[in-house]
Amino acid sequence: MIDIHSHILPGVDDGPADQDTALAMARMAVKDGITTMIATPHVEGPALAAQDIHDHVSRFNTLLQENDIRLNVVAGAEVAYHADLASLSGYCLHHGPFVLIELPHSHIPKGAGEFLYELKIKGYQPIIAHPERNRDVLTDPQLLLDLLDPHISIQLTAESVTGELGPHIQQCAHYLLRRQAVHFLASDAHGLKNRKPLLAKARKIAAKIIGKKAAAKLVEDNPAAVLNGKPLSCS
Ligand SMILES: [Fe+2]
Repeated sequence: MIDIHSHILPGVDDGPADQDTALAMARMAVKDGITTMIATPHVEGPALAAQDIHDHVSRFNTLLQENDIRLNVVAGAEVAYHADLASLSGYCLHHGPFVLIELPHSHIPKGAGEFLYELKIKGYQPIIAHPERNRDVLTDPQLLLDLLDPHISIQLTAESVTGELGPHIQQCAHYLLRRQAVHFLASDAHGLKNRKPLLAKARKIAAKIIGKKAAAKLVEDNPAAVLNGKPLSCS
């Protein structure tokens, strides 16, 4: 499986504070069946330069090899909706057109539709990170569905699907799966206890809702398409 959203780089953002924790997270991911992770540190402005992310990824891959951990990490970012950036170029997932966008947790901003449209016009393919955790979407999922089109996709957090983030969020995640609106399941891993680097359990639950083949698309086919810059298919 390929995990398109993770905070696994040690000491970079609110992920693991040290190398030992990051390595333990990598071992946990490999044991779960994850072969590739896109490291997506939070980006709110130019303080974390795209080149810095690439350098951190390169150093972490060396560390993984030195510790004989068979996980491949590639560079990406989780770009905040309000991020103050001259260009998103460099912050895309593995150099492709896909860009992971984090909307505010509290609401869907009024200009979100226009913002996503502008990204699309510029040639990006926005992926909305974990909308099932957004308070507006929890109240009315249609607000999210109205934002979608063939160039805008959705990533659910694995622990939303498993219920570890609460029943309300789980209900919303399952609703979006049933509506065939979801393109990715990702761990959004931050550590070893909360938002762990795991996908298998969420995949299994998703398979019960949408079928095995459709669930495989969320953790295998579509993430592979992201790595290769190819079109996606829905759940
Ligand atoms: Fe995240």
